Amino acid sequence: MANYQKIKGTRDFYGDKSIKLTYVENVAKEVAISYGYGEIVTPIFENTDVFVKNVGEESDVVNKEMYTFLDKGKRSITLRPEGTAAVARSFIENKMYATSLPLTKLFYFGPMFRYEQPQTGRFREFRQFGVEVYGQGSPLLDCDVIMVAYAFFNKLGLKNIKLKINSIGNFESRGLYSKALKEYFSKYVDKMCPDCQRRINTNPMRILDCKCDKDLEIDGVKVMENAPKINEYLTPEAKAYFDEVVDTLKNFNIPFDVDYGLVRGLDYYTDTVFEFIIESDDELNGLAVGGGGRYADMIKSMVNIDVPGIGWAIGVDRLISVMENQGLFTDLERRVDAVIMGLDKDSKIAGLQLAQEMRKEGLIAEMEYCKTAMKPQFKLCDKLNPRFIVIIGETERESGNYTVKNTATKTQEIVNVKDIISYIKNK
Ligand code: HAM
Repeated sequence: MANYQKIKGTRDFYGDKSIKLTYVENVAKEVAISYGYGEIVTPIFENTDVFVKNVGEESDVVNKEMYTFLDKGKRSITLRPEGTAAVARSFIENKMYATSLPLTKLFYFGPMFRYEQPQTGRFREFRQFGVEVYGQGSPLLDCDVIMVAYAFFNKLGLKNIKLKINSIGNFESRGLYSKALKEYFSKYVDKMCPDCQRRINTNPMRILDCKCDKDLEIDGVKVMENAPKINEYLTPEAKAYFDEVVDTLKNFNIPFDVDYGLVRGLDYYTDTVFEFIIESDDELNGLAVGGGGRYADMIKSMVNIDVPGIGWAIGVDRLISVMENQGLFTDLERRVDAVIMGLDKDSKIAGLQLAQEMRKEGLIAEMEYCKTAMKPQFKLCDKLNPRFIVIIGETERESGNYTVKNTATKTQEIVNVKDIISYIKNK
């Protein structure tokens, strides 16, 4: 049987929802541009290798969540599950490193796709606003990149957002840590899921993201909670870098916690990693509205030049839910300035002409196109709740003086057609 319903985990945006989305997108772009970022628009799909290589074969995103298919030319294609790997691919392919360094600052806004179990704040198609910066590795830059997210949150009026930050070290630290995790989990691995049993040999750090074993308790031991923490394995160099990030952050007025358990679910990170967490008293509490970190090696591993990167992505769908909860969308109703009523065919044409003039001047004007009777036209007014109703009948049309009703004061005046726009604008 034909199925004409939307795909599970996707949503349609119209009416209020699309007004909210456009608003958030406009603020995102405004903030990114004011911080010196240029927009990058990459394709919705890429060669599968772009994500497998960078996000990591053992990550949940690659392993379980990608929409991957063969196109008609039998190429393996993937709907992008995130932006970082795709932007890095573009940075290299377009040789941006040749022209835009020492610092390339890019932002993106658009849909991403992950085959996840839909639930609160989790969709199969969702939107991210993200930034990526290439060229330098400095604690100061890490803080600056984090502050762009806060500029965005502040502009939206978002409250109760906490930064969680950690370092997962350089590759040397990660090697030591992986060894320690392997040793620790080997005591429990027989009772863990098949993914964890594989990951203990391929990528022990990814065991920490496991969704099935996250609350596993064996002989009274909370297996995940008690796992070794990365901070004990940082090299002195990685530790000094992170200490400087934390010290620098203290100069800015943002609440943050160092969370040694934060490792992020994507393989490309090195050193600083962070998430923006919502604190609230409902089901959104603890949800990450965004996350990111530094990645020293992604570009180098694809083209042999040493260009470190750092960035973050904010989940716009989650952000909108949080903003709705915090009552931040009160001023966004669509405002109709005037409904123009025509009481005969020629008056309707005069009304349409007036509507065109109003729209050129930035006023939102609507009309009923089919009916000349009063009743259906007032019905439209009830629905749209315009600030003014302009009524044109034969007498008004001939004299050029139209009846203008003010719906707030419930008064009406006769206004010459030439003056209607300035009359409405001035009220
Ligand atoms: P991520 O943590 O996988 O990082 O995703 C960032 C944000 O996207 C999450 O915090 C969440 O708000 C949102 N998100 C992720 N999955 C879903 C979903 N299924 N439904 C709704 N929202 C979701 C990245 O994607 C990295 N590329 C971030 C980054 C940029 N790192 C460096 N540069």
